[in-house]
Amino acid sequence: MELMERIEKAIAEKKGRFKTPCYLYDIRTVLDNYRDLKERLGTALILSVKANSNFELIDRIRHVADGMEAASLNELEIIQHPNTELYINSPAYTSRFIKAALAVNATIVLDNPAQLAMIGNSSRKPGMKPLMIRVNSRVLGDFIEVSGSIPENHFGMDLTDILEATDKIKAMGLQLGGLHIFHGSHQFKNMCFKTVRAVADLIQAVEERYAGEISFANLGGGFSDEWRGDDVDFASYRQELGRIPARIRIAHESGRGVFASAGFYVVGVIGVKSLGGRPYVICDGGISHNFLLAQTERPFQKHYRRPLLWRDGGFVDTSASGGIGQGAVCVGPSCSRDDIFSILPEEGPCPREGDLLVFTGCGAYNFSYSVSKFLSLHPAEEYLVV
Ligand SMILES: Cc1ncc(COP(=O)(O)O)c(C=O)c1O
Repeated sequence: MELMERIEKAIAEKKGRFKTPCYLYDIRTVLDNYRDLKERLGTALILSVKANSNFELIDRIRHVADGMEAASLNELEIIQHPNTELYINSPAYTSRFIKAALAVNATIVLDNPAQLAMIGNSSRKPGMKPLMIRVNSRVLGDFIEVSGSIPENHFGMDLTDILEATDKIKAMGLQLGGLHIFHGSHQFKNMCFKTVRAVADLIQAVEERYAGEISFANLGGGFSDEWRGDDVDFASYRQELGRIPARIRIAHESGRGVFASAGFYVVGVIGVKSLGGRPYVICDGGISHNFLLAQTERPFQKHYRRPLLWRDGGFVDTSASGGIGQGAVCVGPSCSRDDIFSILPEEGPCPREGDLLVFTGCGAYNFSYSVSKFLSLHPAEEYLVV
């Protein structure tokens, strides 16, 4: 059965029994995305669960994953399991977070040298995993000619700090496992070849300073939601990875590339009103259940997403009604004037009470990046489609 058929069946079977607003996550799509992406890369692939940290989903997919990465203590609690390779990666460790990571044998990715003091103060276990150093993107410029800009971010260390941290790790009697670099979401296509070239040289510099070998390089990711259509030459990329010594295990990591296309966001229509002749579709879910759809991060040029319409037991075919919306305004239940999450085309059918609006491609950062406390509204429900 194809993905849309599975979703249609799930909604038809559950209608009346599930609560809206809600998210549906198709496990098979998550697994397919993971396996396909890993195969194209030819390396280990670590799951970044900030994109989707639903416990049941994580538990259903952990058996395929080469590892999972947490950016907070709560994420670590969700992913931790004896059979899961764990990583933590944050510029904001607390000693509680570090202690918890050491207790479950997670690999710690150091964002800055000061974090070493925190590790030194924690009770060190004999089997502690070697440390990783997070490399700031601008370090690329220290090793290769970069035409075009390097993505700016405040994560990780510059070259001076990387080498100093290497010294400190050695002086503390700890082990250096390797390097981790991540340029940001959507950056893979632009940055992947440059990253390999620079990291290959950086590894040499770090190993010289360490007077020893590292064993692991996480080259990050930045795969888009629909990475299959991104026109990346994976075969050449796999060849490029040959610049990194074969003794070093290479990994990439992904959140949205694995989760995005597996998720569906469903809101129920509570009623419709008219203002100045324009219909307003009032829904039970809005900005506090799906922050991204409201596009407040794009104040001037909002490109609202268009939902599928579910009515009387099935999807209504709205494909003839154009893409750009000037018609009915879909609004959520809060009192924020930004609680608008879609504008439908004028020609299409106007939703009515009892209909559902279903948004595709909502499996990553749609639930996890939403602030659900406003007006004491409940967060959206989440259901797995198996
Ligand atoms: C260190 C790190 N790794 C991986 C990710 C996941 O990014 P994406 O979901 O775009 O793959 C992020 C996202 O912020 C990140 O900060």
